[in-house]
Amino acid sequence: MLTPLGFSLLRQLADGDFHSGEELAATVGLTRARVSQVLKEAEAAGLAMERVKGRGYRLLEAPDFLDPKAVKTCLATFDAGRGVARPITLEVVDEIDSTSTELMRRIGRRDIHGVALAAEWQTAGRGRRGRVWTAIVGGSLLFSLGWRFEQGAGFLAGLSLAVGVAVARALDAEGFAGVALKWPNDLIHRHLKFGGILIELNGDALGPSTTVIGIGLNVRLPAAARKDIAQPVTDLASIAGRKGPAIDRNRLFARLLAELAAVLRQYANEGFAPFGAEWQHRHAYQGKVVRLLLPDGATVTGKVAGVDASGALVLADGPRRARFLSGEISLRRAG
Ligand code: BTN
Repeated sequence: MLTPLGFSLLRQLADGDFHSGEELAATVGLTRARVSQVLKEAEAAGLAMERVKGRGYRLLEAPDFLDPKAVKTCLATFDAGRGVARPITLEVVDEIDSTSTELMRRIGRRDIHGVALAAEWQTAGRGRRGRVWTAIVGGSLLFSLGWRFEQGAGFLAGLSLAVGVAVARALDAEGFAGVALKWPNDLIHRHLKFGGILIELNGDALGPSTTVIGIGLNVRLPAAARKDIAQPVTDLASIAGRKGPAIDRNRLFARLLAELAAVLRQYANEGFAPFGAEWQHRHAYQGKVVRLLLPDGATVTGKVAGVDASGALVLADGPRRARFLSGEISLRRAG
């Protein structure tokens, strides 16, 4: 677990240079022994560090900490010419239980429309279907965006798929090749997951609704962290490879926000329909035979015909067509 003190030490070490224990201790007003202990905790949290007698400490892969100023500058460039009426309100924190839990807590107390909350570290990150979302300080991108819609839950059924389209567009624009979607909204590369989307909703059946759109991306996930995750995963650094784009999390975050805001504005007016064809084009399993695991434990096998105008998955079994709404269903490759 990283404390605020741990983050302030890591920020000093983020230049990738050696810093002596004495120097670090003096800046935070603690003993060298305490500094050493806090940095051990950072190592346990997945940050690789070098300790050299006489020189001090150095981060082997210094994280590019999120910096709201840098995100805002990039966002202004990406939004230029889009005629954005209301800008995104940006908040970055070091540590929180979950960015989505925090925005959900605020509903009813504050207006969260257009609020993007990012965290370097989540102590209780949540995934879909009650799963835990594992992340690493400086190696993940974790944020939630609040958005208000006049409509109710029925209209928002395809929202998570449209959000997948927005994320894939952002990654395309940043030069990551071969990114695909897996119904309903996993982000995958060569069948390995590297990101997920969690949509939560609050409101009346007929609207208005407040949604919290939580997004988690693996940016640089060390092997040790991958072992804690139940399924095989990948990260953006592996997708980019040595020839791919250098990853700047601030720029990537800004790109994601710009694409998301554009998609959400369009969705509010037109629903999922205008995103259907693009979603299918980006679906890794389009036309493939898949197996669905239903909440009651039953399985259904069929060929993916596509998604309908509300975002439901359409499976073909001979001439028969069956529709499935995302909820608690999980999709697997058949065979
Ligand atoms: C999934 O299971 O695929 C969805 C994962 C969503 C994780 C993100 S990380 C930021 C936000 N806060 C959370 O607790 N979860 C979402």
